[in-house]
Amino acid sequence: MPHPACSVNQLSNKQYVLPKIMPGLEKLRVAVVGAGAAGLCAARHFLARQDLFAPPVLFEITKNIGGTWVYEERVGHYDNGLPIHSSMYRDLRTNIPKEVMSFPDFPFPKHLPSFVHHTEVRKYLEQYCDHFSIRDHIRFGTTVDAVNPVKVKSGWKGLAWDITSSDSVDRRKSIKERFDVVMVCNGHFYDPYIPAIPGLGKFKGMLMHSHDYRNAEPFADKSVLVLGAGLSGLDIAMELSNVNAKVILSHGQKPLTCPMPQGVEQAPPVSKVLEDGIVQFQDGKRAEPEVFMLCTGYNFVYPFLNEQVGVRVKEHLVYPLYKFLIPPAYPSLFVIGICRAICPFPHFHIQSKFAISVLDGSFTLSSREEMEKDIELDMAARRARGVATRHILKLDSEQWAYNDHLAHLGGFQPLPRYWSNLYESNKVFRARDMLNYKTYNYNVINETEWAVQNLEGQQLQKPQLKHI
Ligand SMILES: Cc1cc2nc3c(=O)[nH]c(=O)nc-3n(C[C@H](O)[C@H](O)[C@H](O)COP(=O)(O)OP(=O)(O)OC[C@H]3O[C@@H](n4cnc5c(N)ncnc54)[C@H](O)[C@@H]3O)c2cc1C
Ligand SMILES: NC(=O)c1ccc[n+]([C@@H]2O[C@H](COP(=O)([O-])OP(=O)(O)OC[C@H]3O[C@@H](n4cnc5c(N)ncnc54)[C@H](OP(=O)(O)O)[C@@H]3O)[C@@H](O)[C@H]2O)c1
Ligand SMILES: *[C@@H]1O[C@H](CO)[C@@H](O)[C@H](O)[C@H]1NC(C)=O
Repeated sequence: MPHPACSVNQLSNKQYVLPKIMPGLEKLRVAVVGAGAAGLCAARHFLARQDLFAPPVLFEITKNIGGTWVYEERVGHYDNGLPIHSSMYRDLRTNIPKEVMSFPDFPFPKHLPSFVHHTEVRKYLEQYCDHFSIRDHIRFGTTVDAVNPVKVKSGWKGLAWDITSSDSVDRRKSIKERFDVVMVCNGHFYDPYIPAIPGLGKFKGMLMHSHDYRNAEPFADKSVLVLGAGLSGLDIAMELSNVNAKVILSHGQKPLTCPMPQGVEQAPPVSKVLEDGIVQFQDGKRAEPEVFMLCTGYNFVYPFLNEQVGVRVKEHLVYPLYKFLIPPAYPSLFVIGICRAICPFPHFHIQSKFAISVLDGSFTLSSREEMEKDIELDMAARRARGVATRHILKLDSEQWAYNDHLAHLGGFQPLPRYWSNLYESNKVFRARDMLNYKTYNYNVINETEWAVQNLEGQQLQKPQLKHI
């Protein structure tokens, strides 16, 4: 059965048929772009507020929920020609303990270890989707092609949104519908970022991006240059080490001092590829690896968003967004989850609840000008601290103050007190011992207390944390 909010608004003869429930008391119609963790989370919270919102409509390109967590063995394209979204690899386990990776209102099953295999995360999202009865509201196999703002006198703040969506495979099957609110939840780990390295095309071996990495076996005993020491670069270097690959981990951070996997040596960033295909590093040294694996991250892309909304992407920065969430001139659109170096699921939870507090009037936004000013001051403060443009969205330890701030403004429950401390401690353990931190198990005792054990069952000393 088509969802009422879907069918009622469908365009017939280019005219809108708006639902006439009770004049003046119409519920706000919400569109959610994407049914990954962020889209599901947004939908869960709108469904809890049916006093004010019609059940949301979730648009999802693929036939599945879970986005990144839907592992696909193939690379490139699905049978239907669509590009493969997920960058997941076969043996990935989470890098955040389940105790703090979960949505705060839906824990992972008790029997699981703290660091679960990606298949468990997908199961968890399926369970979340069912528990909160979200599935019936998802239009699978449907791509959002355009999100256009329209001025509507009776709309929320005089605004509404026309969304054009199409059958993901047969793009001619397209409809336009009107909504009051848009939640942009399309993810940002699927469009590979390829740095502009001079001569890159001259590399003679196998050139690939971590988006297309699935498992280590094809690289057994090979020489592999891994560029970038983000979590992909580090984790993939470890997997390659296990199959006896000879890895050069080339990156621009301070040399890592923790124990490195066997056969992995560090190098400064690649500066260029020479005429003969040999790779040169910034220190002038050279190498001729069989494989060049770019673990250089991903681009933010919003091809469906009308330029008029003013959301721009520059050097991995998406702006201007008030609280990293709201375009000041169009405050009924919310871009969920653009921040990096965060704990994603709880972050989506807080942002979704904050969006609802804006829409239901619990929190009153300031004027467009004031929000723009706020964004400018925030960016300026970050730049003054020496933060490069491409790192502005990396909230890192600041995420806890951000979460608490939104909860305070929106008047809803913040995360439990142990959350930040446990999460930050895991980061310390990871930095100390990236080879073993995923074997630890955490135990939450109460609102403030938790404990951690290593594989042998020994209780570990909690790290001393600054500022948390
Ligand atoms: C390799 C890897 C490992 C990770 N490991 C962890 C981890 O251990 N722990 C953790 O918490 N996080 C991890 N993350 C982060 C992870 O991305 C988040 O946990 C979470 O999956 C992000 O959810 P999302 O909904 O924002 O995006 P996604 O999961 O990418 O979902 C976006 C959805 O939107 C759909 N979509 C996109 N465009 C459109 C459109 N135009 N119309 C309709 N639908 C659209 C896509 O098909 C997709 O289903 C990892 C990420 C990667 C890449
Ligand atoms: N569960 C797990 O174990 C696991 C495993 C893999 C990934 N993940 C998640 O997946 C997401 C994506 O991670 P990611 O590592 O793919 O992307 P990322 O976090 O964006 O990291 C990309 C890295 O590449 C570096 N880089 C880019 N261009 C470079 C160049 N030309 N020379 C040298 N270095 C360059 C970047 O450095 P600068 O920032 O300095 O530009 C950055 O450190 C993250 O959320 C991560 O947590 C999780
Ligand atoms: C939490 O547990 C610790 C250790 O058992 C105890 O000292 C503390 O009082 C407890 N706190 C709360 C809020 O119950």
